[in-house]
Amino acid sequence: MKLELKDISMKFDEITAVDHLNITINEGELVCLLGPSGCGKSTTLFMLAGLYKPSSGELYFGDKLVNHVEPENREIGMVFQNYALYPHMTVLNNIMFPLKMAKMPKKVAQERATEMAKLVQIEHLLDRKPKQLSGGQQQRVAIARALVKKPKLLLLDEPLSNLDARLRLEMREEIRRIQQEVGITTIFVTHDQEEAMSISDRILLMKDGQYQQYSPPQEMYDSPVNAFVGKFMGSPPINMVPVIYNQENSTFAVNGTKESLAISKPLHPPRSSHHQMMLGVRPEDWLIAETNTAESLKARVEIVERIGRDTLLSATIGEHSIRALVSPDMHVQPGDIVHLAIRNHQFHLFDAESEENLLVEHV
Ligand SMILES: Nc1ncnc2c1ncn2[C@@H]1O[C@H](COP(=O)(O)OP(=O)(O)OP(=O)(O)O)[C@@H](O)[C@H]1O
Ligand SMILES: [Mg+2]
Repeated sequence: MKLELKDISMKFDEITAVDHLNITINEGELVCLLGPSGCGKSTTLFMLAGLYKPSSGELYFGDKLVNHVEPENREIGMVFQNYALYPHMTVLNNIMFPLKMAKMPKKVAQERATEMAKLVQIEHLLDRKPKQLSGGQQQRVAIARALVKKPKLLLLDEPLSNLDARLRLEMREEIRRIQQEVGITTIFVTHDQEEAMSISDRILLMKDGQYQQYSPPQEMYDSPVNAFVGKFMGSPPINMVPVIYNQENSTFAVNGTKESLAISKPLHPPRSSHHQMMLGVRPEDWLIAETNTAESLKARVEIVERIGRDTLLSATIGEHSIRALVSPDMHVQPGDIVHLAIRNHQFHLFDAESEENLLVEHV
């Protein structure tokens, strides 16, 4: 089912939890709502669920306006962070519960519940009670229960946050598999950018109730519309180095140093000299150059850490600290002076004041 949020806002007294949100979610997509704590992710999800009525704006499921449709009539399945399984019921009865409420004959309900248990791979656990299950197994029961009525929309609010790191990885792959197998439109709330990157068709990144960017994960990573998006996506985080623009020779001088970098990309909108910007470079986009060139910056290596297949350098350009992931063949030591160039012109320039990315065209 296709979803449309048209100018949706949600106010709780003075707090604006969601502020004029406009997005379309296509049939069969998995969209992550991503952003820091308190940015309005759960509120947005609860409006989709019908648990909150938007203060203003229109919410469409397909062609149907659903602002005033009650949750039980929305054909949705929902999974919360704490699963909310019924402790005294067996797994089978937990999964069957929504069908029982809908007065489906017991035999058919049992068949349907067993089919769902197979989908989420817990058919061998049907007679157990929730407390006899691991966290991941409980999560699977909750997903089976959410899907048993064959809803048109699956809503998940931080469904993996009670699981340990390894199980989270496994379960996010499972959720993606189940979602694709069923082909159900799914909204997944998380504050974990890596989780969002790994499972979404598209990510909606929010801040203070406001839309920041809505893009496929790789596009959000490669072309963040502003410094907030740039910093939110990626770990270790993007480096931000304050620079001043010189229009005459298209260079950027690093604040407080003699270091400057030639840059050949057009700015949107064009800027005049002396404009303050932030040069954004992801740790993996630095290269150590052989010699000093117009396209490199001199840096002093402070710390060298081997992490798996990469080496993480902490270095300083003047007073500014940066981190670079470089090849382990690079033999550098603390105290060395290196020339840092940028791989394939993979950098961003953010306006120091508005924080907009000056290398992407804003519509
Ligand atoms: N029922 C409520 N009454 C008043 N304020 C609320 C209510 N629910 C949420 N808020 C406020 O609205 C804002 C958004 O909350 P929301 O729960 O949507 O954030 P979130 O992005 O899900 O955060 P988290 O990652 O911590 O779960 C917050 O400032 C929160 O305090
Ligand atoms: Mg929340």
